[in-house]
Amino acid sequence: MFDVNEIRKDFPMIQNRPDLIYFDNGATTYKPQPVIDAVLGFYNGYTSNVERGDYETAVKADKAYADTRKIIARFINCDPKEVVFTANITASLNQIAWGLGRSFLHEGDIVLTTEAEHASNLLPWFRLEKDLGIKIEYIPVDHQGVCHIEDVRKALNEKVKVVAMAHVTNVLGSVQPIREIAEAAHEYGAYVVMDGAQSVPHRRTDVRELGVDFMGFSSHKMCGPDGVGVLYGRYELLQKMEPVFLGGGMNARFSSDFNIILKDAPEKFEAGTPNIEGVIGLGAAAEYLMSLGMDNIQQYEKELRAYFAAKISQLDNIEFYNPDNLSGPITFNGKGVFAQDAAGYLGSKNICVRSGNHCAKILHEVIGTDQTIRASLYFYNTKEEVDRFIEAAAQISLENAVSIFF
Ligand SMILES: Cc1ncc(COP(=O)(O)O)c(C=O)c1O
Repeated sequence: MFDVNEIRKDFPMIQNRPDLIYFDNGATTYKPQPVIDAVLGFYNGYTSNVERGDYETAVKADKAYADTRKIIARFINCDPKEVVFTANITASLNQIAWGLGRSFLHEGDIVLTTEAEHASNLLPWFRLEKDLGIKIEYIPVDHQGVCHIEDVRKALNEKVKVVAMAHVTNVLGSVQPIREIAEAAHEYGAYVVMDGAQSVPHRRTDVRELGVDFMGFSSHKMCGPDGVGVLYGRYELLQKMEPVFLGGGMNARFSSDFNIILKDAPEKFEAGTPNIEGVIGLGAAAEYLMSLGMDNIQQYEKELRAYFAAKISQLDNIEFYNPDNLSGPITFNGKGVFAQDAAGYLGSKNICVRSGNHCAKILHEVIGTDQTIRASLYFYNTKEEVDRFIEAAAQISLENAVSIFF
């Protein structure tokens, strides 16, 4: 049974700060006690480095680290050898783009993406455009940021080597038809890179079923610690791809004549001491989410979002940009009020939202405004919080927003 009031007891931030309404889950999420316990358990009980020691605590750390790879493999349905731990999805996407550029792409090859992407899924490709002479082309998206399969088919040709896009976008919450896109891209032999930052925390993600070749996500957006991310890659592709970082832990051997023999994937991508406690905490977070059930989480959030969308649509002082999307954040502006001023006003009422361009700096070319407010929900939010939010949002006006500065 999915009982939100019981679930809320697992989160110290909710218990310690009942005054706050936290609707900034697209930026980062609260951590439940089992995640905190897992991190503290490592600090207090078996702090050691990994893959280097032969004593009891080091062996225990090795096991916890390796077990997390298995947990994540179960979480996204892949082989543990296909799970690379990184610092965050930004690091994952940089490794993927750089690695593809180094080992697979050539001048004139096309990378297809959309204008709704986060900077972390655009800038690494922009660099390849400069350094390697690849071309970047944008698949059109509709007024809700959704990319349609017919447009993807039109954009595909023999020169397209990569299709890179988010499953769920971070500003409008547009859900892209990734499985159909992957199928179409593979007919042309293109690799599919999925940004899972805003989807993996909120819905069941099965990389085999989706058919993607690479995927990334961040631990901190799914109740896990900061500073940890995952790079999923099909094993044969990971084996052929060069790592960005070289150093300890990732080489099998090297000699004075500059010869380096790398370990196999995934270790060859994990140079240096990893974020061990973060990885262990991520394992606890994935276990926690799976214990709630990813389908339950998705269903609960869908209903909560629909409730929120129906209420905010009734406010005359609010422009609501993504009423047709069924998941993801509620994105809006106070009419005639600068987004940051309105977010500051909500902040003065203890409501945490994000304002700005949300790192999707070219999306304004699609929605016609580059500053919005984003209220992003998670499974621990409630209808009562939405009601309190709506009461405050109804008061957003230029006068009220400016009054908080005086
Ligand atoms: C869609 C998307 N991709 C990538 C990122 C980057 O995430 P991180 O800062 O954890 O690397 C974000 C962060 O908000 C995002 O929303």
